[in-house]
Amino acid sequence: MTILTDSYGRRIKNMRISITDKCNFRCVYCMPAEGLPWLPKSAILTYEEIARLARVAVDLGVEQIRLTGGEPLVRRDVPELVRLLHAIPGLRSLSLTTNGTRLPQLAGPLAEAGLTRINVSLDTLIPHKFFQLTRRDALAGVLAGLEALEAYPQIHPIKVNAVAMKGFTEDEVLDFAALARRKPYVIRWIEFMPLDADGIWRKEDILTGAAILAIIEAHYGPMVPVTGGDKSETARRYRFPDGVGEVGFINPVSEPFCASCDRIRLTAEGGLRTCLFSEEETDLRAILRGGGSDDDLAAALHAAVQHKELKHYINDTRFKRTKRSMSMIGG
Ligand code: GTP
Ligand code: 5AD
Ligand code: SF4
Repeated sequence: MTILTDSYGRRIKNMRISITDKCNFRCVYCMPAEGLPWLPKSAILTYEEIARLARVAVDLGVEQIRLTGGEPLVRRDVPELVRLLHAIPGLRSLSLTTNGTRLPQLAGPLAEAGLTRINVSLDTLIPHKFFQLTRRDALAGVLAGLEALEAYPQIHPIKVNAVAMKGFTEDEVLDFAALARRKPYVIRWIEFMPLDADGIWRKEDILTGAAILAIIEAHYGPMVPVTGGDKSETARRYRFPDGVGEVGFINPVSEPFCASCDRIRLTAEGGLRTCLFSEEETDLRAILRGGGSDDDLAAALHAAVQHKELKHYINDTRFKRTKRSMSMIGG
């Protein structure tokens, strides 16, 4: 099989698979208060269809799979899907990005099914701010979900994702830094991107990773960059000067990392996207359900990857918002 490589020489090693467009939160940077028109069940790929596509992708050089949503854990029997994917020879890493609320029940079954890494979204540690942002009163549930993970060392590392917004995030930077030192969690701040359904994103709302690092360094002194990680990683990583704890910064707006991007994305209904900001998708569901062979799927993956975007244009007058919001792509 020929390895998936795009027209700029970037090897594709990472596939993000959204397994549902639904979510039990309504984060202001992602979904409208009333939700979105959900996809009918018949439109969504079955676990068998996802596993078949994943097998073909791994044959073509994909080494890492991340399950996303919406909120992936609102779909039934996710450990069953994890089990199917874990059985694929050649897959090096199987992870999940979740809002954490279902982890008290699911951390054990997910670990047992073969999940190797997890990222939990948590933007604030203050209950009323949490409600303002997610429109749900669920902070305690997310913290309980994180705690539940600590019983399963086979899921490692545990990362916490905090979307950073000016006027919202600054006053809690040091509380999150303290959390990264007290708990076995890597805290990562993410620059707000124009992927919210309500179109509230404004450039002025971005709080850069550099600004957050400055707050941390003013308190702790110079942070120590972690080097030698995978060059396609989204985050710039730092350890505290005394070696206790790690934080990271995902800076897609102020420091785009498109040149080393190794990612493709599959939407819940089987659309292949070669960029978070793609305007086009390849309909893999039509091939899956139209009697296509694995070779047909492989050919469609190769053809799509040939058109993988060079970069996003958030910082450019050419930038066009995609029609999909974050919850319909999977982050
Ligand atoms: P790790 O492999 O654990 O570092 O995960 P990740 O950072 O790739 O995944 P996660 O789901 O935790 O996403 C964190 C943030 O990075 C989200 O806001 C994603 O939308 C963003 N992100 C992930 N991949 C890309 C990308 O290719 N481009 C851009 N612009 N943002 C991305
Ligand atoms: N900009 C940046 N990150 C976002 N996320 C959701 N919406 C946005 C946005 N508009 C984050 C979530 C989750 C990850 C998949 O993407 O908080 O951690
Ligand atoms: Fe749900 Fe994630 Fe979107 Fe928040 S960011 S509404 S948790 S899909």
